[in-house]
Amino acid sequence: MKTEVVVVDPLRPEADLLARAADVLRRGGLVAFPTETVYGLGANALDEAAAARIFAAKGRPAGNPLIVHVATVDQARQLVASWPAAAERLAARFWPGPLTLVLPKSRAVPDLVTAGGPTVALRCPAHAVARGLIEAAAVPVAAPSANVSTRVSATRAEHVLRGLGGRIDMLLDGGPTPGGLESTVLDVTTAPPRLLRPGLVSRRDIEALIGPIEVGSCSPSGAPARSPGMLERHYAPSVPLECLEGSWQRVKELCLAGMRVGWLTLGSAPEDGLSGLFAVEMPPDPAGYGSQLYAALHSLEAIGLDRIVVELPPREEAWLAVHDRLRRSATP
Ligand code: TXA
Ligand code: MG
Repeated sequence: MKTEVVVVDPLRPEADLLARAADVLRRGGLVAFPTETVYGLGANALDEAAAARIFAAKGRPAGNPLIVHVATVDQARQLVASWPAAAERLAARFWPGPLTLVLPKSRAVPDLVTAGGPTVALRCPAHAVARGLIEAAAVPVAAPSANVSTRVSATRAEHVLRGLGGRIDMLLDGGPTPGGLESTVLDVTTAPPRLLRPGLVSRRDIEALIGPIEVGSCSPSGAPARSPGMLERHYAPSVPLECLEGSWQRVKELCLAGMRVGWLTLGSAPEDGLSGLFAVEMPPDPAGYGSQLYAALHSLEAIGLDRIVVELPPREEAWLAVHDRLRRSATP
């Protein structure tokens, strides 16, 4: 299969280009597109055969459910068996935006999309290309991140092509995605609601609106994880990766042992260049860091290294989503 790459304006996407992409979706094809978080790999969520192609293209285990993207709250309500008050308030405040809500699914959603489970994850993206595509297709769009399963998510069109080129019909290239980390996932089928994946909408933002929530992907009874995709190793580059505080000593040791080492630093890298060292200075704030993390990992991956070492950011609440992704990127 040849993947057609279509360059679109990220702020004011061209209607004729969106119509072409929407046509691919309506005919059961796969279209990758930018969102405000990361690139998504989209298919018509109501078409089971199309959704099955997502699992095949990514090599995604059938037990890991997909997020369904909608353009409006009305469209979301058609996909759920109930719409609790918490969902109403959260959607009114954070949609469109990087918050995914897990709700009881209606019969309209194919079982394959929810991996056979009784709930569906819904997200209303803010990016103009994503919104325009869903509106033009006039169907809900199932879209996981546009990367090969367990690998680093794509924040640029070139990342999508490197992983999925030749396996998908079309790629809408809308430039780098602004957020850089996947959406916050909140399960509102439980009382209190449970944060399954930290993201740009923080626990504090959510609690200010609906009161206390729980954090973590396992149910209190110790039953199996409610979010099968929260696999420990998930955002992993092809190069072994380690995270530590005061990482410069470790970096020096590895370089002196003759390794080619990628280093994500906070603050400036020491002047005395070591041979085999490829340093990337990361932004010192959580939002800036999050927006650059996957691009940094993709660029280091492409160089061909023996090791990536990451200087751990501060252990503070604001860095929760970054810490979560770093932990899942690290080699056990
Ligand atoms: O920002 C995002 O959310 C991106 C963009 C493309 O929208 N999408 C994304 O999708 O990150 P994905 O499939 O890579 O991650 C979705 C996560 C998975 O860990 C999955 O297990 C979980 O959400 N999930 C999906 N449906 C669920 C459900 N019904 N219950 C619990 N967790 C669910
Ligand atoms: Mg993913």
